[in-house]
Amino acid sequence: MAHSSFEHSNHGRPILVFGRDGQVGRSLQFCLRESGVPTVFLSRADCDLSCELSINQILNHYQPQVIINAAAYTAVDKAEAERDLAFAINAKAPELMARYIAKVDNGTLVHYSTDYVFADTKQEPYLESDRVGPVEYLNVYGQSKLAGELAIERLFNTSDDFNRASITDKFARYFILRTSWIYGDGGNFIRTMLRLASERDQLKVVANQVGVPTSAQWLAEVSVHMVRSRIESGIYHAVPDGEVSWHGLAVFAIERAVSYGMRMEVKPENILPILASDYPAPANRPHNSRFDNQKLKKALSDMAFTGQYPYWREQVENYVKQLVKESQSN
Ligand SMILES: NC(=O)c1ccc[n+]([C@@H]2O[C@H](COP(=O)([O-])OP(=O)(O)OC[C@H]3O[C@@H](n4cnc5c(N)ncnc54)[C@H](OP(=O)(O)O)[C@@H]3O)[C@@H](O)[C@H]2O)c1
Repeated sequence: MAHSSFEHSNHGRPILVFGRDGQVGRSLQFCLRESGVPTVFLSRADCDLSCELSINQILNHYQPQVIINAAAYTAVDKAEAERDLAFAINAKAPELMARYIAKVDNGTLVHYSTDYVFADTKQEPYLESDRVGPVEYLNVYGQSKLAGELAIERLFNTSDDFNRASITDKFARYFILRTSWIYGDGGNFIRTMLRLASERDQLKVVANQVGVPTSAQWLAEVSVHMVRSRIESGIYHAVPDGEVSWHGLAVFAIERAVSYGMRMEVKPENILPILASDYPAPANRPHNSRFDNQKLKKALSDMAFTGQYPYWREQVENYVKQLVKESQSN
């Protein structure tokens, strides 16, 4: 494996992880616990990302070499009514993190973004080079996440300190990992479907929105590997292979749970496909959330990331198996 710029020159500066208690944050705790690298995990109580002063104080206090920002305002529907708060957390906070890291020799910022920066401008999987937006068709959450992406890229590509550091080969890097449909240790679609399937004899699930379910654990492992490798800065579409609709995902997860012995009220034929327009919500969501992951795949294979690149089905199957096991031991 390529040696990390981090391990070569961290001078005792820690990795700082924001969003300790979120799905990705919890998986990062699991990945980094045994790494031997000094790491500080911050909750909302430790640092409120809607408060610039609090962020700057934390950065000055810890002087991190690496920031992994797993925190975000993720309440997609609520964001429609809380635009300023969503922008403070999803756009201003990552901008401050980027401003800090761009000046750190061998510094790295890992930030997560979303399929919601695209608004159904194509039917095929989106490439990193595809045009985002149009902004007026994005929901507020998507707009705020896009503003975060643009702020990071602007900071890294125009900062004097960053340009000076590039010349000395100690340049700071950033990774914006666009991902989708995350499941892990926390509330998510798969957990909700399994709970509802055990309570109700009929479910109606949206069938005309298609995306890629992504394991928080896998995403955390990829993130740590990218920090440790010499992968180039930029945006990466970080999802497993394959695609499925919400309805297809619900059917698959419920069938797998039944096969592992979970008792369900609903029969497969009573999991009914519906249109997104039959299930109105405050925030608009895209129909096409497919991502092309070739750029990430190539970067990881160049950096000797272990194991085969995953397909979403195997990872969801393992997750469901784990959930059933946990429910049986309670
Ligand atoms: N979930 C998805 O399907 C999905 C899809 C695409 C992209 N993403 C992106 O992936 C990343 C991780 O998502 P996730 O599913 O792990 O999110 P999550 O489970 O909702 O966790 C978000 C974390 O952010 C923290 N947070 C929220 N407001 C904060 C504030 N003002 N100050 C400090 N911390 C704050 C939350 O703290 P509390 O624990 O105190 O609430 C929580 O720990 C995010 O950038 C998200 O936008 C997620």
